[in-house]
This record gives sequence, C-alpha cells and structure tokens, in this order.
Amino acid sequence: MSATIEEKVENLRDQLRYHSHRYYVLDDPDIPDAEYDRLYIELLAYEKSHPELVVIDSPTQRVGSKPLTAFDQIQHQKPMLSLDNVFNGEELQAFNQRVKTRLKTSDEIEYVAEPKLDGLAISIRYVEGVLIYAATRGDGSTGEDVTQNIRTMQSVPLRLLGSDYPEILEVRGEVFMSKAGFSSLNEKAKKDGAKEFANPRNAAAGSLRQLDPNITAQRPLSLYCYAVGVVEGGKLATTQYEILQQLKTFGLPICKEVTSVLGAEGCLAYYEELSKKRDDLSYDIDGIVYKVNEIALQDRLGFVSRAPRWAIAHKFPAQEEISKILEVDFQVGRTGAITPVARLSPVFVGGVTVSNATLHNMDEIRRKDIRVGDQVIVRRAGDVIPEIVRVVPNSRKSELPEINMLSNCPVCDSVVEQVDGEAVARCTGGLFCRAQRAEAIKHYASRKAIDIDGLGDKLVEQLVDENLINTSADLYGLSVEVLSSLDRMGKKSAENLVEALENSKSPVLAKFVYALGIREVGETTALNLANEYKTLAAIKNASFDQLIEVQDIGPIVARHIVNFFQQEHNLEVIEQLISAGIKVQVVKDLARDEHSMSEFFGKTLVITGSLPTMSRDEAKEKLLAVGAKVTGSVSTKTDYLLAGDKAGSKLTKAEKLGVRIIDESTMVAWLSNKEI
Ligand code: IVH
Repeated sequence: MSATIEEKVENLRDQLRYHSHRYYVLDDPDIPDAEYDRLYIELLAYEKSHPELVVIDSPTQRVGSKPLTAFDQIQHQKPMLSLDNVFNGEELQAFNQRVKTRLKTSDEIEYVAEPKLDGLAISIRYVEGVLIYAATRGDGSTGEDVTQNIRTMQSVPLRLLGSDYPEILEVRGEVFMSKAGFSSLNEKAKKDGAKEFANPRNAAAGSLRQLDPNITAQRPLSLYCYAVGVVEGGKLATTQYEILQQLKTFGLPICKEVTSVLGAEGCLAYYEELSKKRDDLSYDIDGIVYKVNEIALQDRLGFVSRAPRWAIAHKFPAQEEISKILEVDFQVGRTGAITPVARLSPVFVGGVTVSNATLHNMDEIRRKDIRVGDQVIVRRAGDVIPEIVRVVPNSRKSELPEINMLSNCPVCDSVVEQVDGEAVARCTGGLFCRAQRAEAIKHYASRKAIDIDGLGDKLVEQLVDENLINTSADLYGLSVEVLSSLDRMGKKSAENLVEALENSKSPVLAKFVYALGIREVGETTALNLANEYKTLAAIKNASFDQLIEVQDIGPIVARHIVNFFQQEHNLEVIEQLISAGIKVQVVKDLARDEHSMSEFFGKTLVITGSLPTMSRDEAKEKLLAVGAKVTGSVSTKTDYLLAGDKAGSKLTKAEKLGVRIIDESTMVAWLSNKEI
C-alpha cells in the first residue's frame, strides 16, 4: 500500500528534524548538505500544493512571519530566577557550608557545575512537544514574547524529538552568540557601514530583540538549555544532571562542559580547569554555576527573594572593562620597532589593575580608529598583554585629533622610517639609540639567551642610562666597585653579578647566536644555524643562498642574517665579546666520524625532574653541544626522555608513548664514551 500524501509529508518532516538536530545541535551531520536541501525542497513542494497540510511545527515554518510593531508581554507561570554571586574560593566555601548547615548534613554535597554563559535568559514553552512560545526573562515575572525570533534559530527544535516529554514543558536556557559568529557579524556590519556591537552578549540581545524575524534569522544565535520551568503531565528525572541528559534526548542543545562534582573542592577544581580552557571555548563565559544536583534537596533549600539557595554563580574576573585613553606613548624595541602604547586611566580587568595597553602599530590604530580621549574596551585574558578591543561604540561626543606616528625616535631623535609593506615603523638609529642598546643588552642577558643571573631589565636600563655600558661586551668590564656604587645595589649582589658574568663565558653556539639578537632569529632558528654550521665563523660567512637551504630559514630571515654580519658595529661587538673571554662552545661535527658519533647527535630529547649532579640547563647545554635537540614536551618525535627525581606528567607520557627513558648517569656515560 503506497503512503498517503499526509504520511509522506510527516515522514519528510521527521527526517528533516532528525538531520537538522544532528547538524545544528550535535554538530555531527550524517548526510551531505545537498541531500538535506533536497528533502527540504521536496517538503516545500508538497506544502505548496497542499497548503491545508502546513502545520506550525513544520521545518519550513521557521521564518516567514511579518515584522512586529512591538513585542507582547508574557507573564511567566513560574518566575525566572537570578543567581547570587561569589568571587573567590572562600566565598564559595561559605556557600557550601550554608547548604550543608541547612540540610543538616556533614556529607559532601553533589553539585552540577556548568559554565555561566554570557548571553540572555530565555524560557521556551512546549505543549505536547510543539514549541508554543518563547519569552525573555524581563524582570523575572514578565518577559517579552520573542517566539518569532526564537523560531528562526536552527538549533531550537520546533517539535521535540521522541515522545517521552511531559505534556507541558518549559525549558530555560541562555541565548548567546559564539565568538566567531560575533566577529563575522561585526565584520559585516563594518563593511556595510552599520553599527557594530560592543560584545557577543550585546550582539545576542540586539539580535533577539529585532522586530523583524528575517533579520534575526540571519544572526548566528545559539542556545544552551540549563534548567526547566513549568513541568506538567509527565515527570522528569530527580537530579539536575539527569534532567539535562533528558533534555538532550528531546533534541535540545546542552552545553558539553556540564559535569557533576563533589563538594566545594570539586567545584574549585572545575573552576580552575575551566579558567584554563576559557579562551579556547568557542563562546564567552563569565563564570561557573554550581547547582545542588538532587532536586529533592533543591526543594528543601528553597529560595531567598529572587535567587535559589541551592545554586551560586562563581564569577571570573572580568576580562573586558571600559577605560579612557589618557595619552599615547611610543616605545622603542630591540630592533628599533616603535610600538604605540596607550596610557589608560587605571582599571581592574582580568584580575589585575591595568594602566597601559599595547596598540601594536599604526595600522591597528587606524583600523580601530582610536584617539586620545576615547572611551575604550580594554581586554586582558590570561597572561596576554592587555590590549584595546575597540572604542566604545557611539561614545565619542566631540571630534578628537588622530594619532600620528612620530617622525623622529623619542629616545635618540633619529629619523623614523616606515618600510613599504610593513606595519611596523622603526627608529633608524640602530645601536646609536639608547633604547635599542638597552633592549639588545636585556635580550643578551635574558634567560633563554646567555642567562645572566641577577641582571634584570631595570639594572640594564640604569647601566645604559649612566653610560656605564654601551654593548653586551661592556658587561664583562663591570667591576664589583662600579656595580656596588649604583643605587639599590649592595656589595653582595654586585659580587654575585660579577660571578654570574664570569660563569656565562662559555655559552653553547645556539644560545650565543640567539643572544646576538639578529632580527627574526629566535631560539629554534639559532639552534638550526648552530647545528648546520657548527661554528660562529661558518655562520658569519654563510651566503644568502646557503642560508635559505637551512631548515626553517626563508629569504627574509636569511637577508637579516647576512645584513647583521655585514655591519661593522656588530662584528666589533662580537670581537669585543671574544676579547672579554667569551668562548663559544663549538658544535662538534660528530656526524662525519662513525666511531666518534654521539648517540645524541640529531636526536630529540626532553629533560624532566631534578637531576642528581647538574641542573636541567647544564644537561641541555651538554646535549646541544653534541648536536642533540632539546624540546619542552614529549611527543612521538621524542627519542629520549632524560628523567631525574620527581619526574611527573612527562614521564607518564613518555612511558605511554614508548619513548626510551634514560637517567643522568647514562647520559654522562654516553657523552664520555662516544664523544671525541
Ligand atoms: S541557572 C535557578 N545556569 O545567569 C537559577 N543561569 O545571573 C536560574 N546563566 O539569568 C539560572 N548560564 O541568564 C543558570 N548554566 C547556567 C547559566 C545561567 C548563564 C545566566 C542566566 C541567569 C543569570 C543569573
């Protein structure tokens, strides 16, 4: 018996619902887009020839309504609550204690930990599985009817999947915009000369509050459900966690990061974990919400005013705040690059007080149209240098002058040049410029370069300012007397520094090359150069054509290397360093002699734990000197793990990957047996 039109249409709708759930909610489609489109067009055709079969929850009925003149009000049958906040571990412990006291228990409480999404709360009502209306939170009792707009969101089912849902089910959740969706929306707005949104939350709110659903339909809105409101004619599970799992089976989107944890300790561990992940999440969150898992316990705890006693929001320090640009200064770096820096009225953001933010370069200033006096959004995420995200839209009340690059270096007054095709402007003073000299010496002394203990940035600046040193070679001429005459420098520190300088005189080639501060030559390039050429003289004499043959070296870097060694001044500094007693350890060319070839030549090692007789850096230098490569993390490319005491996760990982593990004595034996 062939199917009736009604059956065919219902079957097409079921297929489309299933596939759209896989695509938009699970992010795991199992048919090609073209196949979905074909089913959709087929349904459209049936509905066109049989308009009497069109129903409100048909996948074709997402957009189509006419623009409204205003939103209706909807009274929430069950109020939409808000949450109390805590801002640190102590306050969270106190919350946990209050819960335990009220429940008269000393047992650890089970909580569900969920990201606190940064969007706006919504309540969606399903009757017999069909979406009937959706309302914003409003004041918690009455919200706005945004049904037309919510219907345009592809991840929101117009009909729930399966048949186990209660007759009336109100789901509550957060409508938000992903970071990527937000950037593309703003990029488009910029191109069209339209108004940009300040952040994803504003963009989500602005998009949901459009009177014309056709506009909302084009906005990348997402939903995660986190609670239920009214439930009638059917029962849900007895814990928050299981309820969310049930909602998932109804086809509703649930955040993947939701998990259950035990006690305040479990909550705090989750907080730490998610803080680390925060920047990698595809959406903004502003904290964590912990909810008592057992609904029966939630009921016993009840509410105070508008917030439940069984849930709390643990807020992250805000990553974005508004501040004002007081001034723009220009800083000169080691290679002469001039970086504009905004001086801000101090603002607490990302857990610290910020009063400076990098503006990167002039292109960036023009692109963001930043001016002195502007209200700006300052962002500090993780350990990243604070930066200006954008000017607060529509905040500039009067015309402000544009910021211009200086024509002369603020430190040495040399001409500033802007190379075509480069965003960066540079001081042409070279090592004549005090700022560049100081930066070059700081780089020479830094941990990854020659690593001179006790020679911090401030001290280098002081030494350069007082004309006690001009180049890194001059460091070796500093005496205890001269050093201890400096402000805030005791005799003991001066002696320690002179000793550290003495100890720094036999660097391995790779570190020495890195320490020279050749433009674009980072640690890895320096190591490749050292392994390839073995001596400083050979690197110095290498031609452009030879250099571009070396691993990781392209024409730009090769040109910088050649230029560096062509400059008289640089050759002089190298000469002076050598006269001061620097003996660069040559990479022994062990590869050519079968018998003398070190086991470690060309091998990749990772060092972990504390070694019995030497520091990890010392071991690293010994290994580099015989042509090994030393990296920071264990992978399938690692040949050996040199492990000392208290080796932790790297050891576990090496064991898992079957990487050979050696100890210090094995390393020493291999080095002495097989070295020349
Ligand atoms: S539960 C019964 N869970 O935070 C408590 N709210 O500050 C109702 N929010 O209005 C809220 N993520 O818009 C809950 N996982 C989450 C949340 C969340 C974000 C928002 C929600 C609420 C506000 C309260």
